[in-house]
Amino acid sequence: MRIMLSNNSSTLSIPEHGLPQNVILSELETKLENDFGYASGKILSSMCTSPHRFARQVHQKYIEKNLGDPSLFPASAKLEQETVTMLGSLLSNPSALGSIVSGGTEANIIALWAARNCSKIEHGQVIVPISAHYSFDKACDLLNLKLIKVNLNKNFQMDVKAAKRALTPKTVAIVGVAGTTGLGVVDSIGELSNLALENDLYLHVDAAFGGFVLPFLGNLGYAPLDFDFKLSGVCSITVDPHKMGLAPVHAGGILFRDSKFTESISMNVPYLSEGQQKQSTLLGTRSGASAVTVWALLKHLGRVGYQKIVKSCLELTWTLANEIQQINDLQLVTKPTMNVVGVKSDTVDVNVVFQQLKKRGWGISLFEGYLRIVIMPHTKLEHIKNLLEDLQEILHSIKSEK
Ligand SMILES: Cc1ncc(COP(=O)(O)O)c(C=O)c1O
Repeated sequence: MRIMLSNNSSTLSIPEHGLPQNVILSELETKLENDFGYASGKILSSMCTSPHRFARQVHQKYIEKNLGDPSLFPASAKLEQETVTMLGSLLSNPSALGSIVSGGTEANIIALWAARNCSKIEHGQVIVPISAHYSFDKACDLLNLKLIKVNLNKNFQMDVKAAKRALTPKTVAIVGVAGTTGLGVVDSIGELSNLALENDLYLHVDAAFGGFVLPFLGNLGYAPLDFDFKLSGVCSITVDPHKMGLAPVHAGGILFRDSKFTESISMNVPYLSEGQQKQSTLLGTRSGASAVTVWALLKHLGRVGYQKIVKSCLELTWTLANEIQQINDLQLVTKPTMNVVGVKSDTVDVNVVFQQLKKRGWGISLFEGYLRIVIMPHTKLEHIKNLLEDLQEILHSIKSEK
């Protein structure tokens, strides 16, 4: 008997009797056809990438681990802490504490949760650059904090003088970004660290993207940038393995300098199999496979492996950036610090260019006034060449229509 799944309302209800797996798989194949795939090379808008092959294997193998119940999965919980230690050592603090969480959003929320709880100020304020990820809007909304956004300097970094002026007795935290979502810019974390120390304030660094790139810049011959726990004002760092760390979604990281921060958000879980347990994450039930996979990837790739990946992404970034500079109608928004390229134009409407690229199947982001291209580990030279060819054709057709 051939079972057909048609696109009518019956397919939208749970079938009375289950369908064979092959039927469902083929239906899925059809239904998911319109998704982008990393292998196509057309995804240039995402800070995530195709997970490493070894990561897929490990993740699949340990899929049932649940870190929400460390009394049942104590060995996974130990591996999570070892993962945090390894990430801490990458960010200049092997004694950092924290968790492998669902991503940068959760990590940023947890950081501000700790900052708020440590300060004891009611209705506190948090200072972020306007370039900060919107997860800080979510965090402040949830935590009843007021978000103060300050402008950028000419290098697209948070204007530290403006941050200083924004300080009030209600300020509980300052956030610096080490790899902005839009342009991959790194704020002057050193100056923010001094500002935080002088004013006894919590400093959180959002290195969701940069955490797996910046530690390797110096060795690769690029100007090294201070952004991590080496700076004594830094209290916490977001670093996402599911971005440049090549881990499968979900895998984020929140690292704290000190146990007083983790303790400030620690809750008792009263019902686990070994009695009361402390928990310092937003989620209860959470993936143990994610933490185990990050552990395995860090061990498998090592610093040299990650450095090679960053090297290749940066080389492609510079290939693209140099080519963009050769195109009359396009300009770089700023010189790339990392593998993110902002492209603007004085002569053509980038919204039109964006729409045309979309029609040609490219996944590119449109920010206010510029296109953002992220060169991730799945991107190859041929993809950059194809993009440049399409860009040239699109510009030509826009100009000839004028
Ligand atoms: C700098 C930065 N922080 C936080 C996030 C949020 O991360 P996620 O999407 O994993 O929640 C992003 C996402 O791109 C980001 O670029």
